[in-house]
Amino acid sequence: MFISDAIKYVGCDDDDLDLFEGQLVLEHGVSYNSYVILDEKIAIFDAVDDRCTEQYLANLAEALGNRQPDYLIVQHMEPDHSGSLGAVLNAYPNVTIVSGALAFNMMKQFAVPTEGHEKLVIKEGDTLSLGAHTLQFIAAPMVHWPEVMMSYEQSEKVLFCADAFGKFGSLSYDDPEGWTCEARRYYFNIVGRYGAQVQALLKKAAGLEITKLLPLHGPVLDEDLGKYIKLYDTWSSYEPEESGILVVCASIHGNTLAAAEELVEMLKAVTDTKVKLVDITREDWAETVEDAFRYDRMICCACTYDTGLFPPMHSFIHHLASKGFCKRKIGLVENGSWAPKAGSIMKAMFEEMENIEIVAPMVTIKSSLTDDNRIAMKALANAMK
Ligand SMILES: Cc1cc2nc3c(=O)[nH]c(=O)nc-3n(C[C@H](O)[C@H](O)[C@H](O)COP(=O)(O)O)c2cc1C
Ligand SMILES: [Fe+2]
Ligand SMILES: [Fe+2]
Repeated sequence: MFISDAIKYVGCDDDDLDLFEGQLVLEHGVSYNSYVILDEKIAIFDAVDDRCTEQYLANLAEALGNRQPDYLIVQHMEPDHSGSLGAVLNAYPNVTIVSGALAFNMMKQFAVPTEGHEKLVIKEGDTLSLGAHTLQFIAAPMVHWPEVMMSYEQSEKVLFCADAFGKFGSLSYDDPEGWTCEARRYYFNIVGRYGAQVQALLKKAAGLEITKLLPLHGPVLDEDLGKYIKLYDTWSSYEPEESGILVVCASIHGNTLAAAEELVEMLKAVTDTKVKLVDITREDWAETVEDAFRYDRMICCACTYDTGLFPPMHSFIHHLASKGFCKRKIGLVENGSWAPKAGSIMKAMFEEMENIEIVAPMVTIKSSLTDDNRIAMKALANAMK
């Protein structure tokens, strides 16, 4: 597949992978993107997951024809891209490895067989000429690993942007939801914690004229780039993308869920804003993390469990904390039959995060809803609207 006359896509679709990074559910696979620039010199950008090594070597051989690659540019050492590096190095013994110092250290850690290969250690601002094409290297530390180095090709004005602007779903899957939904789930669950570092990258990118973004997962972005960059700006500054109230519920026997359903009706009665109910015991938690960042308000409803918080809610809020959740308005509903504690635990977890406003009243249900609970829930609905 040609991206331009000189740039070819050589990556692989992994349609069968069920969990990305060991925990993120994939329904339509993922692509491990890799590219080559064919000029006087040939450069390969990254490799793929070891699951696809055979296919990848075949793609490379076809793209290269009877030529040998000169440079293997390693932008990111996570195994979904570095898993097949060893096989590429074996197949092309004369290729020079081009990467940052941190990535070369990681190659040792991951036991990549680099012996016998020339190594070119590059840093921010360095350039490498391939002939008509010139690469300019851009450090993107913690987007989303420390060693990440992106490459800007000056003549075609394309940015090889590593894991930034990635999306779940293999390239053979024509996503009816378009780019944003699965790119957002990808962003918040993988890169989310590193908003400040993404902001720094966007500042560097603003100084470059960019015609195409070539990420390591998902489609090449070659039109309407302002839209994608604006979304990344919103996401990485932790601003809500939309006005809306997400109601997240974790219930054992259904009473807390019934309360959440009534609360949703109460919210709808007092506001036109979007209200979305999620049963976190069944829904994909990563999709719910995505929604929590997407909207400006959230109400968490959960029951007490073994003097603690019911684990599906505990795990969800833990995921939010790990991804740097902040700047949101939160309402709380707890349930417990003898010593309710879910609310105070959720409150303490949210209070650890930055710029979280806990909205009063917190509603305490003792088993099933009472009329007093309904009055409190109406007050909460009004306070959240
Ligand atoms: C294994 C287990 C542990 C529980 N631990 C507590 C507890 O420590 N304190 C409490 O008040 N209720 C506890 N409960 C009771 C539930 O929190 C309570 O019945 C609540 O109303 C359940 O709401 P639900 O109908 O939404 O599941 C526990 C329930 C179960 C099944
Ligand atoms: Fe990665
Ligand atoms: Fe990746």
